[in-house]
Amino acid sequence: MSQAAYIEQNKDRFLQELFDLLRIPSISADSAFAGDVRQCAESVAAHLRNAGADNVSIEETAGHPIVYGEKIVNPSWPTILIYGHYDVQPSAPDELWTTPAFEPNVRDGKIYARGAADDKGQFFMHVKAFETMMKTNSLCCNVKFMIEGEEEVGSGNLGPYCVNNREKLKADVILISDTSMVANDCPSIDVGLRGLSYVEVEVTGPNRDLHSGVYGGAVANPINALCSMIASMHDENRHITIPGFYNDVLETSAEDREAMSRIPFDIEEYKKDLDVNDVLGEKGFSTIERTGIRPTLDVNGIWGGYTGEGSKTVLPSKAYAKISMRLVPNQSSEAITRLFKNHFESIAPPGIKVEVKPHHGGEPVLTPTDSGAYKAAAAAMKDTFGKDPIPTRGGGSIPIVALFEKELKTKVVLMGFGLDSDALHSPNEHYGIFNYFKGIETIPRFFHHFAELNKS
Ligand code: BES
Ligand code: MN
Ligand code: MN
Repeated sequence: MSQAAYIEQNKDRFLQELFDLLRIPSISADSAFAGDVRQCAESVAAHLRNAGADNVSIEETAGHPIVYGEKIVNPSWPTILIYGHYDVQPSAPDELWTTPAFEPNVRDGKIYARGAADDKGQFFMHVKAFETMMKTNSLCCNVKFMIEGEEEVGSGNLGPYCVNNREKLKADVILISDTSMVANDCPSIDVGLRGLSYVEVEVTGPNRDLHSGVYGGAVANPINALCSMIASMHDENRHITIPGFYNDVLETSAEDREAMSRIPFDIEEYKKDLDVNDVLGEKGFSTIERTGIRPTLDVNGIWGGYTGEGSKTVLPSKAYAKISMRLVPNQSSEAITRLFKNHFESIAPPGIKVEVKPHHGGEPVLTPTDSGAYKAAAAAMKDTFGKDPIPTRGGGSIPIVALFEKELKTKVVLMGFGLDSDALHSPNEHYGIFNYFKGIETIPRFFHHFAELNKS
């Protein structure tokens, strides 16, 4: 039977199995869901076994487990390592979901559920593509799966696992579907990911909350101070003012920027989708450049003082914020975190103490477009979309990717099938049924082209 016929025949089951996976609230950030995360790992392992993988195991870590499985058909054939993550972001705010986050619902050809696009719908395409190749006797490369449960919390335990399992994870390429394309009729492949520095700051004023009339005007208010400190970190051109912040930024060549300017992008549609009357970002760069090739600093959360019902007249003792900085080649997350800390401490006004606590980070990456692996991905997409994919830069981060290249010395291909508008990490996350099946159809074509390139 042909691959296409097998996929067609099993279409419904391929969808139902994904829905079952989406029903498991595998939220890695919240320890209350640790049991669900483990149950999800077990379910992934069972799916790999049923699809025909050998040596399937749940690999324990200091945190959530990693699911491993493999099929070695011929040791002299090339080996493809599939990486993905079965953990998801929290679903809050739940009241903004049209249907509940963990009850997958199909509307308008899209699957609505937390994790639908990021990354259950995407890594599961690989499991179903593998099943398809097994059942149609067309698996032409060896394959290894490594599906982790801590990507959304920084992949802290995956690095050591990789370093300790170099031999087992040995492969000719690492294939990942956890990024977006430009549009369903405009296939693209991410050749870059941003890095991340993430810090939490604690700003302290007086040793206790104070009556805002009795003391107001006489001592520093930590919320006021935090707001001015944050505001001062961008200048009028929306450049970041931390000294040395841009020192290691690799400037993009005029040629690459020219290529970026040709990527189809409709600013009006973009604004409409987000319901904003204008975009805002660093002067001198287009929207695509601002998310693809430029570093940023953003407050992700801020709190302090009284936020309950009505009013309480109080000067808070403390204020807090969580701040992310997206990084580009060749910035280093450790160096940027250090620059942030020194700067933030230096701008604290009199009467204010600050503490900067670094969270997880990740390094930026650039993948080559002249590698065999990239060419195989481009040829695979050409087969199924009927168009050459264009190389693009993803604004998000996948912290382990830089480490794959550094520690495993293995090239990575980011062949994602999602869309930026899939509402990743937001209420009403969704993934197109078109995209799910396009992925299942395209992945075996990647195996085919990768085998051709590597066997001859
Ligand atoms: N899949 C995303 C990253 C992504 C999305 C890259 C779209 C390119 C395009 C990933 O799951 C993610 O959300 N990563 C986090 C990393 C963090 C939690 C360490 C991110 O980017 O915020
Ligand atoms: Mn992801
Ligand atoms: Mn994510």
